[in-house]
Amino acid sequence: MIHKRIQTVLITGGSSDLGEEFCRQLAQFEITLIVVARDEKQVYNLQRRIGPTCASIEPVLADLSTVAGIALVQDIIRQRSPVDLLINNVGCSAHGSFADSNLAAQLSIVSLQIDATLSLIRGVLPFMEEQNFGYIINVSSIGAFTAMRRAAVYGATKAFLSSFSRSLRDEVISYGVKVQCLCPGMTETELQNSGAVSYLEASSMSDRLWAKPKVLVQASLEALESEKLFVIAGGDNLEAVSTEVVKLKKLIH
Ligand SMILES: NC(=O)c1ccc[n+]([C@@H]2O[C@H](COP(=O)([O-])OP(=O)(O)OC[C@H]3O[C@@H](n4cnc5c(N)ncnc54)[C@H](OP(=O)(O)O)[C@@H]3O)[C@@H](O)[C@H]2O)c1
Repeated sequence: MIHKRIQTVLITGGSSDLGEEFCRQLAQFEITLIVVARDEKQVYNLQRRIGPTCASIEPVLADLSTVAGIALVQDIIRQRSPVDLLINNVGCSAHGSFADSNLAAQLSIVSLQIDATLSLIRGVLPFMEEQNFGYIINVSSIGAFTAMRRAAVYGATKAFLSSFSRSLRDEVISYGVKVQCLCPGMTETELQNSGAVSYLEASSMSDRLWAKPKVLVQASLEALESEKLFVIAGGDNLEAVSTEVVKLKKLIH
């Protein structure tokens, strides 16, 4: 169950995998669900894929790695505000060493995961402040707590999201806005199939580190009213993060 006052939800990357699962679980409530993605067919077929819903689904086609795409969604926020729940779910990665990488592709990861997230949050906050109510979910990764060899920029953007969420939470809590940082581990999605985030050899990983989108989204929505900032769900992921935090201490001189 989500708060009765939540009427408008905007989710980025809502047309597949984790984002689609958010839409599926939120669609049982009488809300307007604004879904941002690039692929017209995927996003327009979302309603069909998730079946009958109580929600009204409004697709928005925008490439959030571009200035124009971000501006378009900022406009939608101005027109449709207040957005009561913003889910910054969009993400992408590129696999390979940074030294050999295509710099434009790496910078595009930064635009998508940092510029877009900051711009949309900046867009919704004045309206949330005015109504003294709102929720923001930033989808980071357990990679925010670890070294992500061969996905260094991706990992760094996730660390940014975790750090930013932590500070933002303290800034906005006084005017009724709750911030959550969802940190998935290895999740059975297309992003994972593409190998783009395989900083650890998937084959050598315990099955208990894998989670299904359904479990993660349930944990995230259930934790919306919680005072906790980070949501780490599925298998042994919390233990994996704790181990990484201990390793970090060894790097301090
Ligand atoms: N899967 C994992 O193991 C894992 C682990 C940790 C964290 N995460 C995080 O969880 C989130 C969701 O991951 P996922 O695995 O569900 O990803 P995914 O399967 O690759 O889905 C990404 C979604 O984002 C949209 N998208 C991608 N690039 C876009 C762009 N430039 N502009 C607008 N929309 C764009 C895609 O639709 P279009 O292609 O139509 O635009 C799709 O709806 C990401 O932030 C990811 O980093 C995932």
